[in-house]
Amino acid sequence: MVTTLRVEPARGGLHGRLRVPGDKSVSHRALLLAALAKGRSRIRGLSRGEDVVHTAAAMAAFGAGVQTEPDGTVTVDGGADQLREPDRVIDVGNSGTGIRLLSGWVASRPWLTVLTGDQSIAGRPMGRIADPLRLMGVRIDGRQDGRYPPLAIRGGDLHGIDYTPPVASAQVKGAVLLAGLGAEGETTVREAIPTRQHSEELLALFGADVEATPGTSTVRRSTLTPTDLQVPSDPSQAAFWAVAASVVPGSDLLLEGVYVGYGRAGFVDVLLRMGADITYEHHDEATSTADLRVRSAPLRATEVRGAEVPSLIDEIPVLAVAAAYADGVTIFADAAELKVKESDRIATTVAGLHALGGEAEATPDGLVVPGRAGRPLTAGAVDSHADHRIAMAFAVAALAGDGPVEVSGFDAVATSYPTFEEDLRRCGS
Ligand code: S3P
Repeated sequence: MVTTLRVEPARGGLHGRLRVPGDKSVSHRALLLAALAKGRSRIRGLSRGEDVVHTAAAMAAFGAGVQTEPDGTVTVDGGADQLREPDRVIDVGNSGTGIRLLSGWVASRPWLTVLTGDQSIAGRPMGRIADPLRLMGVRIDGRQDGRYPPLAIRGGDLHGIDYTPPVASAQVKGAVLLAGLGAEGETTVREAIPTRQHSEELLALFGADVEATPGTSTVRRSTLTPTDLQVPSDPSQAAFWAVAASVVPGSDLLLEGVYVGYGRAGFVDVLLRMGADITYEHHDEATSTADLRVRSAPLRATEVRGAEVPSLIDEIPVLAVAAAYADGVTIFADAAELKVKESDRIATTVAGLHALGGEAEATPDGLVVPGRAGRPLTAGAVDSHADHRIAMAFAVAALAGDGPVEVSGFDAVATSYPTFEEDLRRCGS
C-alpha cells in the first residue's frame, strides 16, 4: 500500500455498490468471546484490518485455535481449559479497542499479561480501564501508574462492581463487562450517556448471563457457548462513502448490509439533518442492517452535541468534511474524547481542512466549521498523522475538491480498511 495517496476529484460522481469491511467493534468482540466458548465458532465477514488481525493473533497467543477458511470464514476453537498464560508480550498494534477490551478479558485469569502497541497506543489513556479493573481486584501496572501502555496485568479472583465510568466509552464498558464474565457476583455498568451495545449484544449471542437497556448493563459469571455469526458492514466505514456520495455532484451509491443498530447510526441522522439524500433499502430489523442508498444533495449546517456524540464519535472527521461543503456554520461540541483517539482528531481535522483551503476552528470540546456552500475545497497536501480516519476523511474531501490532494501517511488505513483504495477506484474513477 502506498504511503502517500494522490486523490483526484471524482468529477463524474460516485456510482455502484459497495460492501465495506466487517464492523471493527463487532469483530474484536466476536474473537474475544469465541476464544472463551468451548468448541468451534465460525465468524463470517470478520474485519481484515490490522487492528482485528492483532486481536486474532492475541487469541492464538492465549491458546485459542484461529484459522481462516478458503471462503474467508474465520473459525475459532476456544474454551477456558485450553487457554493459557501467554509466553510473549501481546502487541495490539494501533488498536485502542484491542488493548482496552483485552485488559478486561484477561482480568479474571491467574496470569501475567503484558500488553503493548505502537507509538499512538503509548499515548492512549488507560486509567479509565485500570481504575474499574483495580476495583474488581486486578493488579495493573504500566507507565505512569498504569495510566499509559505498556500494561502489565496480573489477573485473579475478581468480584463484581457497580460502576459509572467518568467518560462515555464503549471500550471502558466492554472491558468491565468482559471482566465481569469471570467475576464473583454481579457487574453493572451505568452510563449517563449510553454508548454502542456490541459487548452486550455479543455476550447475549454467546449465551452469557447479561441484561442491558441503554444506560445500564449487567453481567454475571457465565460459561459461553460457541456460535456462528455474520459480522455486519461497518457503519464507521460506510460513513466515508455516505459523505463522499453526498458531496460529490452526480453521485448515486449503494452501501450494502450496513449495521444501523443502537448507538452507531448517528452519522446518518446528522447527514439527514444536513439535507442529505439517504434512504434505507432492505432494512432488516433482525440483524439491524440496511442497504444505504446515497445520492448527492446540497447540504446545510447543523449542530452535533450531547448524547448524540458517542453514536458518531469516529465519524466526526468525515462529518467535518461534509460541513465544509455545507451552507452555514456547523458546530461539533461535547466531543473532547476526539483528542485521545489515534491522533488528536480536533487538531488533525482542523489542520486538514486548512490545508485544503477550508475554514475551521478548534474549540476545547470540538470544532466549528464554516461551510463553503458547495464551493469545492482546493488541491493540497494533508498529513494523516498516522490516523486511519483522518487519512480517509481527507481522501473523501479530495473527491469533491477542485484539484488533486496528496494524503501522506495513507498506509494507516490498513488498520481498519485495507481495501479503501480499491473501493475508491471502483466507485469513484
Ligand atoms: C469502540 C468505541 C469507541 C470508538 C472506537 C471503537 C468500541 O471508543 O471510538 O473506535 O469498539 O467499543 P470509545 O467508546 O472508547 O470512545
